[in-house]
Amino acid sequence: MSALTQPSTFTMRPIGVIRSPYTETSQIPKGPGAEHNAEGVLELLPEYEAGLKDIEGFSHLFVLWVFDRATGYDLVATPPVDPRPHGVFSTRSPRRPNPIGLTVVRLLGRDAYKLQVRGVDMLDGTPILDIKPYMSSIPAEELRRGWLVEAEERRRAAESTS
Ligand SMILES: C[S@@+](CC[C@H](N)C(=O)[O-])C[C@H]1O[C@@H](n2cnc3c(N)ncnc32)[C@H](O)[C@@H]1O
Repeated sequence: MSALTQPSTFTMRPIGVIRSPYTETSQIPKGPGAEHNAEGVLELLPEYEAGLKDIEGFSHLFVLWVFDRATGYDLVATPPVDPRPHGVFSTRSPRRPNPIGLTVVRLLGRDAYKLQVRGVDMLDGTPILDIKPYMSSIPAEELRRGWLVEAEERRRAAESTS
């Protein structure tokens, strides 16, 4: 029997929380041209400190986290950067079947089990599931940005005629 015909559930325990300047989703930049330069702290539980050994050598990190204040999901979502709907798995919507967030942050420094980072787009107190060093071996010329390219072209055309 394939694993897909017999759904399983997995229990995960957060390894820490994100300390962020954002307490409301409305404070987090979104939409066309949004930039995430806010600084925050990845505050691990002290028991995981040894797991951070050698992390200082990496400039950027993947942070996997939980959209703990999202409820439910939509299989088709309309992102703030495009009035056209897209399948949830081709967007970064918080309302997804498994509410897992993924953010790349710049590592600024470390103090024991706390990492100072730049680029947070999470609410204060968001649970962290995992941290991994950022790396990609995919050449930039091979990357395709899907519907975002068309959405940006439509927006530029609208701006040039207004
Ligand atoms: C568009 S999502 C992208 C998040 C992540 N970079 C990703 O790609 O998975 C970012 C938005 O999630 C929402 N958000 C942030 N932290 C959240 C949390 N803890 N629970 C629910 N929604 C959250 C905010 O509205 C924020 O603007």
